[in-house]
Order: sequence, then C-alpha cells, then structure tokens
Amino acid sequence: MGTLDGKVALVTGAGRGIGRGIARLLAREGAAIVVNDLGSSLDGTGADVSVAEQVAREIDPSGERAVFNSHSVSDFDGAGKMVQQAIDEFGKIDIVVNVAGILRDRMIFNMTPEEWQAVVDVHLKGTFNTCHWAAIRFREQGTGGRLINFSSSSAFGAAGQPNYAAAKAGIIGLTLSCANALSRYGVTANAILPGAATRMIDSIPRAREAALAESGKLPSEQAVGTERDPDNVAPIVAYLASDAAAEVNGHLFAAYGYNIGLMSQPKIIKTLRADHRWTVEELCDLVPRAFAAELAENQNDPGFGEKMRGIADDLWVEVGSGLRFWGTKLEPYGEQVW
Ligand SMILES: NC(=O)c1ccc[n+]([C@@H]2O[C@H](COP(=O)([O-])OP(=O)(O)OC[C@H]3O[C@@H](n4cnc5c(N)ncnc54)[C@H](O)[C@@H]3O)[C@@H](O)[C@H]2O)c1
Repeated sequence: MGTLDGKVALVTGAGRGIGRGIARLLAREGAAIVVNDLGSSLDGTGADVSVAEQVAREIDPSGERAVFNSHSVSDFDGAGKMVQQAIDEFGKIDIVVNVAGILRDRMIFNMTPEEWQAVVDVHLKGTFNTCHWAAIRFREQGTGGRLINFSSSSAFGAAGQPNYAAAKAGIIGLTLSCANALSRYGVTANAILPGAATRMIDSIPRAREAALAESGKLPSEQAVGTERDPDNVAPIVAYLASDAAAEVNGHLFAAYGYNIGLMSQPKIIKTLRADHRWTVEELCDLVPRAFAAELAENQNDPGFGEKMRGIADDLWVEVGSGLRFWGTKLEPYGEQVW
C-alpha cells in the first residue's frame, strides 16, 4: 500500500534533478505518472525527448504506470496536452507538480529583455499554464486535487537573478491565489523552496570550483547519496500530494537536504496611523523612529537555507529516532509543539 495508490500525477521538469526524484517517489507511492520534460539545456535552449522518456522507462518499462512527453511548459497548448495525456492514459488528473526550470543569470543592468522573458516564461507562465488546465479538470472531476509549485529562496532577493527572483516570487503569489480560489473544490496549492545539488548548482562558479577542488567531481556528482542529493526533496512533495495533507493549503515549505522548514508568511508587524492624509514632513520624522530597527538594514535575505543548516546543535528537540525539531516563536504564530 502506498500513500498515493490510485492517484494520477503530472510532474513537469521530471527528466532530471529534483523533478526526476519526485516522479520516481510518487510512482513508488502508487501514483501513475505523466513525466514531462523538454530536455533543454540549463538556459532553456535545445530539446531532447529522451530525457523524459528515460525516466518514464525507469519508473515502468511497460508504460502502463508512466508515460512521457516533451512539451514546453511555457507553451499554453502544450501544457493543456500534458493534462489531457493524464486523462487519456489514466482516466483523470489528481496531482500537478511544477518543477520545470531554467536559469539565465545576469545583473539587472546587463539583462536583456530576452533573458528576462525566457525565465519568466518557463517558471511563472509555465506554472500558470499547467495550473490553469489542471484547475479546469479538478472542478469537473469534483474529487479535489493538488498543485505543488516550485519557488526558490532566490525570490527574496538573489542579486544576480532578477528574472528568476521575480518569476519565483510570482509563483508564490500564483500558488496562494490558487489556494484561496480552489479550496472550495477540495484542491490544495502549496509551494516548495528547495535546495539540492543539481546542474543548477553546478552552474554557480563558486560551488563548482569548490567541489572540483575537493573531489574532482561536480556538486551534482558529489551529492549522490548525501544530504545534498536532489532526491531528498521528494518526500515532502509526496506528503503534500497525499490525502494526509488534505488540510494543508496555501503554505510555503523549504526543503534543504534533510531539513523541512515551514516558512512564515508576510505579516504587518508595525503600523503608523493618522486621522488625516500624512504629510511628507510627518513621515520624515516618524517613519525612521517607528520602524527604526527594521529599516536599519535590508532584511531581504535569500540565504535562509544556510541559516537552517546552521542552527546550533543545542537548540534542537529530539522528536523521534534520528528526528529533531527547531522552531521560533514569531507572532502571530502559535505556541511551540515541543
Ligand atoms: N537545485 C536547487 O538548489 C534549486 C533551488 C531553488 C529552486 N529550484 C527549483 O527547483 C526546480 C528544479 O530544479 P533542478 O535543480 O532540479 O533543475 P534541473 O535543471 O536539474 O531540472 C530542471 C528540468 O526542467 C526541464 N525544463 C526546462 N525548461 C522546461 C520547459 N520549458 N518545459 C519542460 N521542462 C523544462 C529541464 O530539461 C530539466 O530537466 C526548478 O524550478 C528550480 O528553479 C532548485
């Protein structure tokens, strides 16, 4: 018995990296899988259908429990065909996991409109495309559904990735919108902010050089079977896809190695109120005084993965064999469980 017996899942970008691990785990948990992958290079150029085909064959050589396609998620009609393929092959669609992604890193002052558009098209438009087609089917089927979208800590201000940061922040907004719009149909929408050594990490010069110097291997080669293995992201996705997570809706989870973090969501933390339209003079006086601590430094930090890994040993609570919990009390979130 698997947690996803009888379910049908579409996983985009499932030919490599994190998506491949997700497709394989969802299949092991009992789901029938549509493996989508364009088979492009990291910058989104090129295409290779064998990338998706290979993962589908690994899952089920007979093709009975796994089929594949190489449509681009950025193609609206192509995304519709992926969802239709699930229905044609397996009779329905229950789960959509949007993992497909590319990078075209450049500082804002050097970025071309093409570099901007290509990244927004794959990540943000691509996620909209599959969510749109799946939402139509979820409503028709009347049996609920799961949207699990891939964002990134880069959304919080990665300096060299204005296109990617904007697209990944957009995916958070899209996910929360879907969560609010579709809950009445029994559909949940949540987002994952992952960290794992894939070819995306191989492309970061500092990470690549450090790994090559240490072992002669790329970060992705070094990571196999370690905490940095992209397959480690898959379990939280399988959980969110399962019936056990029916009430988990509109949340952001960080998945770094063996760490699963629940992200806080933006809240108003301080307010100034006037009984008239503010004058600029009043604001010049009061904004720095009221918000001084928060304004003293730029609080946007895309590096929370490192912070999560760096939590001191004595701050953890043992909650099971090899299992630990750390939490911070951040108003207005509730009391600690442990
Ligand atoms: N690896 C990390 O640490 C990390 C960190 C934050 C976010 N992410 C996000 O996680 C997701 C997976 O990243 P990864 O590291 O496994 O990358 P990856 O490059 O290993 O895999 C991405 C896959 O998406 C496919 N793809 C690209 N464009 C496509 C398109 N238009 N249509 C269909 N498929 C397409 C590629 O062919 C590739 O196989 C991405 O959305 C990425 O932005 C990854």
